[in-house]
Amino acid sequence: AAAAENEAVEDGLEILHSLSKERGWRTQHLYMYQNFWCQPQQIQAIVTLQDHFQARESDIILATIPKSGTTWLKALTFAITNRNQFEPSSKVHPLLTSNPHDLVPFLEYKLYADNQLPDLSHLPSPRTFATHIPYPSLPESIQFTPGCKIVYLCRNPLDTFVSSWHFISRNNVRAEKLTIEEAFDMFCEGVVGFGPFWEHMLGYWKTSLSRPEDVLFLKYEDMQDDIQYHTMKLAKFLGFPFSAEERKVGIVEGITNVCSFDNLKDLEVNKKGKSIADFENKTLFRKGKVGDWVNHLSPTMAEKMFWVMENKLGGSGLKF
Ligand code: A3P
Repeated sequence: AAAAENEAVEDGLEILHSLSKERGWRTQHLYMYQNFWCQPQQIQAIVTLQDHFQARESDIILATIPKSGTTWLKALTFAITNRNQFEPSSKVHPLLTSNPHDLVPFLEYKLYADNQLPDLSHLPSPRTFATHIPYPSLPESIQFTPGCKIVYLCRNPLDTFVSSWHFISRNNVRAEKLTIEEAFDMFCEGVVGFGPFWEHMLGYWKTSLSRPEDVLFLKYEDMQDDIQYHTMKLAKFLGFPFSAEERKVGIVEGITNVCSFDNLKDLEVNKKGKSIADFENKTLFRKGKVGDWVNHLSPTMAEKMFWVMENKLGGSGLKF
């Protein structure tokens, strides 16, 4: 049924006829739209979003390529910016009863999905939205409204691939199965939703270097290494710095605890339901570790990816 639905979407979208396509991971095809690979369902949403979204100077945009730690970043940002209203260690914190994707919606997967044109003008500031769209294709008002802040979180491509592989396998909606080797080759060639991954990373990376006050560039591995420090860095960038008093009474720790993988994974709300498209919430929390790729990729596969990384990211200053 899912495959038939995908085909129906593909048939109904005029714009797709002019785009080149490749075999996809989750959907039958991925289409090259504005220099990135995109699933047919999201293209219409992205076109509408680009035409209509009006950024505010207080907006916060969380950008990632899928499986780089989006859920974690959403939880942290929500907990940081709402900490006066919701004390992080509170037994009734919204993160205990809502999936992070319901607290911070995706622009293209939720708000503008299914031909919707949402009225976002009534939302209180700061409005926080998430997206997987590459930097050059963000609505212009996000790119150019002074004060509108973008946080980009990226992750070692080897772990991102492994995470995506499990996620797609566990949410299998494809008629046709891919082997891990086939999926890996497609990933290395850049054929993956919102990819090539190197273009995605470099777009945000370069902007974060030229406009550090507008774009904060974070890495999943660094956050795992020192989450307290990065939570403080994120809060400061967003304009919600922690006071000495807050640090003393453990507010930072309260936030990192409520947002931790171990806490979120075991909550009832995160074991059921679907908060993003047709993906099961329980599949959003797998291992939450750095370096799990060694358990899934052969040395030859890893070598290939190291070569791609060196070739595409070498010289940019971006390293994993
Ligand atoms: P693994 O599959 O390697 O475990 P996204 O949120 O962008 O979909 O990324 C999913 C990855 O982030 C998964 O990685 C998932 O387990 C991990 N993750 C989810 N919540 C997390 C959290 N609170 N802290 C750290 N990692 C988390």
